[in-house]
Amino acid sequence: MARTAERVDHDELATLKLVALDGALESRTTVTCAALADRLDASNQTASRRLQRLEDADYVEREMTGDGQLVAVTGTGERALKREYADYRRLFEGHADVTLSGTVTSGMGEGRHYISLPGYMRQFRERLGYEPYEGTLNLDLDEESVRDRARMDALAPIDIDGWADEDRTYGPAYCWPARVERADASGEGERYDAAHVIAPERTHHGDDQLEVIAPDRLRDELHLEDGDTLTIHVSEQ
Ligand code: CDP
Repeated sequence: MARTAERVDHDELATLKLVALDGALESRTTVTCAALADRLDASNQTASRRLQRLEDADYVEREMTGDGQLVAVTGTGERALKREYADYRRLFEGHADVTLSGTVTSGMGEGRHYISLPGYMRQFRERLGYEPYEGTLNLDLDEESVRDRARMDALAPIDIDGWADEDRTYGPAYCWPARVERADASGEGERYDAAHVIAPERTHHGDDQLEVIAPDRLRDELHLEDGDTLTIHVSEQ
């Protein structure tokens, strides 16, 4: 898995952006080299070569069909586009934080399993600087935050790489530094600074849950019960 992506240049990134705008980020979309060439103001051969390079670098997956090809942007490709987005956002909006809010909820105990896996734990230690409490605090985001989540996805994340053991592969994830606060916070002990939001690399549109990890058990630190409202201030690495 996780083969090292070859470098793609600006022309190829522009091509990636065009196929993404055509829908290749959400699902597979039909692309013809002639139409693409037209929009890129380049020859068919050039359009075809750029798609080939994007495939070689694992930025898109392709399948040839009778009337063109089906193209889908991969997780690596999506990550490259988000880096561009983050650059532009920083350029015009400055350093951005995103504030999300939601209510504490219980999941199905999956967080504990994933967080405790050695392939992730090693990276948390190295890249976040701590060993998380083994679990994730789950939040049901309110309506506005479900929308604002897309802005969080554009903040520069700390990358957690995918890895494999003998049995299976485990996907990459993103982490963002996060400050967690009770919505009714009025003083000490109701705010926790050193947490991270964690999300799988591939975002699901309309995802209404947020998962938070931290060195401590946040339910104890902030005296939380299901249904309590929290505000999460998410920032860049
Ligand atoms: O059962 P669920 O999927 O909600 O949780 P888990 O990921 O297995 O985590 C175990 C418990 O610890 C849950 O009640 C989480 O809400 C809580 N937790 C916490 O309070 N603080 C953390 N940093 C991580 C998990």
